[in-house]
Amino acid sequence: MAGVQEAREGDKQGWRRPQLRERRVLVFPLPFQGHINPMLQLADVLHARGLAVTVLHTRFNALDPALHPEFAFVSVPDGVPAEVAATGTIIDIIVAMNVAMEASPAVGEALASVLADEGQPRAACLFIDANLLAVQKAAAALGLPTLVLRTGSAACLGCFFAYPMLYQKGYLPPQESQLYMPVNELPPLRVRDLFTSSKNSHEKVRRVLARITETVKYCSGLVINTCETLETTELQRIRDELDLPVVLAAGPLHKLSSKSTGSSLLDQDYSCIEWLDTQLSRSVLYVSFGSLASMDSHEFMEVAWGLANSGHPFLWVVRPGLVQDLDGLDFPDGFEIAIEGRGNVIRWAPQQEVLAHNAVGGFLTHSGWNSTLESISEGVPMICRPQSADQMMNARYVEDTWGVGFELEGKLERGKIESAIRKLMNGKEGADMRDRAKELKKKVADCLESCGSSQIAVDKLVSYILSL
Ligand code: UDX
Repeated sequence: MAGVQEAREGDKQGWRRPQLRERRVLVFPLPFQGHINPMLQLADVLHARGLAVTVLHTRFNALDPALHPEFAFVSVPDGVPAEVAATGTIIDIIVAMNVAMEASPAVGEALASVLADEGQPRAACLFIDANLLAVQKAAAALGLPTLVLRTGSAACLGCFFAYPMLYQKGYLPPQESQLYMPVNELPPLRVRDLFTSSKNSHEKVRRVLARITETVKYCSGLVINTCETLETTELQRIRDELDLPVVLAAGPLHKLSSKSTGSSLLDQDYSCIEWLDTQLSRSVLYVSFGSLASMDSHEFMEVAWGLANSGHPFLWVVRPGLVQDLDGLDFPDGFEIAIEGRGNVIRWAPQQEVLAHNAVGGFLTHSGWNSTLESISEGVPMICRPQSADQMMNARYVEDTWGVGFELEGKLERGKIESAIRKLMNGKEGADMRDRAKELKKKVADCLESCGSSQIAVDKLVSYILSL
């Protein structure tokens, strides 16, 4: 019934709907978990609206076509040297990939052969990650329009656009003495919240962000994985700045997509859901630092004891590579006994299902944008432990704008972790954050209703795709 109602609303507005698989969209995600997930969710949403989908993907972090039999898959050589893939930062890999793709005809050839495939519906456009300027150039040479999916927040994109100004006005590079100074042009951000990376030179970060800005400015349309209610002002600023036919807030995409899984690079351990079933409502702290963030073995020990000493049940994701200087998992002596029956440590979780579970009452997170959106969507308040990139600004919005969590600042120490957990899970402040998280969840859910802003954004997007 919801589908019929939606179709009527769309018809009233005069948006076109595709005949089944009348047209095709191509999608090319950046091959990192936090970028792959929203791109495949968008692909799923468009497929559900009747469009055919072809996924182009790199050999680095290659996707598994068997998980998406409904899509066609094309593997594209990425040219990332093995040593960069093994030891480079994410920025090194993005730079190497773009350099190699611009130097070789491989992407253009792959796109040309996809376009020439007469067994498939005609391709309308290519969705790319904003980091893939090289792919945009190859598509432009073939006359194929590109649309960008921004997998981060609208605030983050606004910060990229503002980067030259931030340098010009002396906010960047960040000075120790100015970290808490407000950035008046980008409220509520302070200097410490701006996009930075301690593992890369400022110059390298600037160059990569300038290329993202170029990709977005010259695309044929922009979709952002956010929603109007979360980032009204930030979206308006972007619309004012860009001269694009469509700038659409169509998120949180994982809530619009019918598939919550299927794009995970690691196997998700579903046994934790059975374990959560045995726990009391809102009693469990979920702990995960995403797919890229890491810590040293001392910090790891502090987190372990902070969790153990808090007395709360917890579910902790310790993925391979989380601890920089440890080969295998090495828990402190006495830890396993201290957490018996109360703590569950797993390699990788079905995170969206975990956050949606009634037993989960809080999330200790690195504040990646997907994790933030997934937590907000389920009304779960957060302890934020941001590390780099956009994570600091996401944490700032969580604490200051939405009031659904707080940042754990300074060195990671067991005593501080323990009291932060108590504050979130037992304290009055934590209860207030939980109440606000419930209200925010409701507002986001409204955007996803059939006449909500995110559904309307998808209607407009489909209609626009058909017009290309
Ligand atoms: C990276 C950057 O760290 C982040 O700042 C940026 O916003 C996006 O790119 P990542 O570290 O992967 O992201 O974090 P996040 O954006 O939160 O994405 C992680 C994804 O992995 C989420 O969709 C989450 O559901 C999934 N995940 C995480 C799992 O499926 N299982 C887990 O155990 C942990």
